[in-house]
Amino acid sequence: MPLTDKLGRRITDLRVSITDRCNYRCVYCRSGEEDVPFSELPIADYVRLVRVFVSLGIEKVRITGGEPLLRRELLPMIEQLSSMTTAGSGKPLDVAITTNGHLLAKLAQPLRDAGLSRVTVSMDAVDPAKFARITRVANGYEAVVAGIRAAKRVGLEPVKINAVIMRGFNEDQIADFARFSRDEGVIVRFIEFMPLEEGRVWAPDVVLGYNEMLDILNSYRSLVPLPPTTIGETAMRYTFDDGVGEVGIIAPVSRAFCGACSRVRLTSDGKIRTCLFSQSDHDLYGVLQRGGTDADLAAFIEATIQKKEARHHIGEPGFLKPSRSMVHIGG
Ligand code: GTP
Ligand code: 5AD
Ligand code: SF4
Repeated sequence: MPLTDKLGRRITDLRVSITDRCNYRCVYCRSGEEDVPFSELPIADYVRLVRVFVSLGIEKVRITGGEPLLRRELLPMIEQLSSMTTAGSGKPLDVAITTNGHLLAKLAQPLRDAGLSRVTVSMDAVDPAKFARITRVANGYEAVVAGIRAAKRVGLEPVKINAVIMRGFNEDQIADFARFSRDEGVIVRFIEFMPLEEGRVWAPDVVLGYNEMLDILNSYRSLVPLPPTTIGETAMRYTFDDGVGEVGIIAPVSRAFCGACSRVRLTSDGKIRTCLFSQSDHDLYGVLQRGGTDADLAAFIEATIQKKEARHHIGEPGFLKPSRSMVHIGG
């Protein structure tokens, strides 16, 4: 039996945050304070927990953070994950990473050799000065572009770029990103800004919605819709009238996709988070620390999936911002 929640949603995707450290301090994610305490588990423990999830029907694992490329034992971890097969079909587990790309130029080939299939790079500006203002790090832009090119060169494809769009910060980058997609042969997805940050940046009027993004892209060049590649895909996909380039819009705020949600998350401290906007987590690692067997872990996971929230309530009266930001939850 695949993992299914009480609303009948099949849970096939696990996102694992392997650190909440990060070498960037993006304005929409971190408060900007230095030296915040961090939490990480030994890599072997993440691998054990993932193995149990996979035995229950997880087909796709995305490694996130924080910045996952900061973990030294990342390569052996990817090697172990890529050798796992899914419970139902016996197909190899789909293993991907979401990274800020800063360390990717050197690591792309070793990651590929370790069995990684794909990489998503978070990048919110194509103008280097703006990139530095958003990430609060100097000279990151060149490193990230080198990382993207290296990923393409070694076949970590398709390379996807995630750009969180905030009104007043980077909506002027949308057309330039479309050009970047066409020039570099990468998929660029524009994401509506969600209230998940440590700072105080989010407000309803900072969200640049799907319709506005579509208008900006169409005035750059006429869009042509592309069919979804998977059920429950978060992005609406487009190419341009000459078929060159691919862009997507991810609209969790104005067009929530909770009805088709297939995701569950494991935080860097080993807690299951059933929704990005959950008000509390479920301490799977506690079961392991108390000497739990794989069967105990599986039972805990199955019971927790039944508590998965129906949807988020962004913009509704009484909405409470989650107490942990994306850097702790894992994107
Ligand atoms: P693939 O496209 O499958 O390769 O995975 P990906 O991680 O690159 O894309 P995905 O669509 O899973 O995530 C892209 C972005 O969409 C994330 O960085 C989040 O901003 C947003 N997102 C992803 N999953 C969720 C979710 O469960 N809920 C909400 N509200 N937003 C999500
Ligand atoms: N809203 C939307 N997307 C976000 N991300 C991080 N914080 C937010 C937010 N508040 C995205 C980043 C990154 C991924 C981990 O999550 O773009 O790609
Ligand atoms: Fe799934 Fe929650 Fe995201 Fe909705 S907000 S898509 S239920 S994780």
